[in-house]
Amino acid sequence: MKIGDAIRRIERSARLDPVAAFARSLIRRVPPGRAADTLHGVDLGHPMHPLLVQVPIGAWMSATVLDLFPGTRRPALGLIDLGVAAALPAMAAGALDFAEQHPRQQRVGMVHAVSAKCGVLLYAASAVARHRGRQGWGKALGFAGMGMVGVAGMLGAHIAYSLNGGVSHTEQDRDLLPEGWHDLGPLDDFAEDTPVRRVVGGVPVVVVRSDQDVRVLTEACSHLGGPLSDGTVAEGCITCPWHGSTFRMADGSVVHGPATSPQTVLETLVVDGVVSVRRPDHGSAPHHGTEIPHPRAAETMPTGPTGLA
Ligand code: FES
Repeated sequence: MKIGDAIRRIERSARLDPVAAFARSLIRRVPPGRAADTLHGVDLGHPMHPLLVQVPIGAWMSATVLDLFPGTRRPALGLIDLGVAAALPAMAAGALDFAEQHPRQQRVGMVHAVSAKCGVLLYAASAVARHRGRQGWGKALGFAGMGMVGVAGMLGAHIAYSLNGGVSHTEQDRDLLPEGWHDLGPLDDFAEDTPVRRVVGGVPVVVVRSDQDVRVLTEACSHLGGPLSDGTVAEGCITCPWHGSTFRMADGSVVHGPATSPQTVLETLVVDGVVSVRRPDHGSAPHHGTEIPHPRAAETMPTGPTGLA
């Protein structure tokens, strides 16, 4: 059996769901806010967990290599201590991400987390043994820990690459948007601060009219593809109904996680009371060719994201 097929059996194992639900309920007691956003990676614009795990994995991998050579007792012990300490924030960030994922991701995530925690415990035991001068036990526990960390890493990669955990679920929409201006309908069809779903060349977008402004963003939330047109609008931001990610409508940037990638904001123009949009990077890629003017306002194009004419 292929490794991927074995992991997909974990994805389908609903027996893990009660445990996942319990873990999720505990983790969600962490209040949303600055600390949670930082651990998700909102400040970086990149998931934090895969960055944080580099430190313990790198330290432990280096200690494993040092263990193969004589006279390396002290540096190997220092690296193992460093790895155990650095694993704590990495686990915290991973737990917060886990709590806002879909069931198949969480099933694999449960096994990933158990493997990782076993690895941490084995390395902690290795450190204790080494501090007590039991070098042989320390090395054996360290090698076992490396094995568990390897399993955890493989499962984490499966969540990221096969189950799309942590990737942007809207990034491809930007490239799929067709060239040129596209009418979305009369401005009067859009009530104030009420998100409305429209489709541009097969790509769903969400339209929000506020005062004299119209903002149009890609509809699928970058976190897990939630429908932003079912979300709520307040203070220039739109909040996803699934896990509460909040995006600034002016530029698509993430205000609150768990999302870490921005939404694409389309260029908007209102001509003769009709809302039109086009992709934000029109004409910038080689295959885009020359700029296609708006059919009803060919003389002057606005440079901002929204133009009222
Ligand atoms: S899909 Fe999770 S916050 Fe939008």
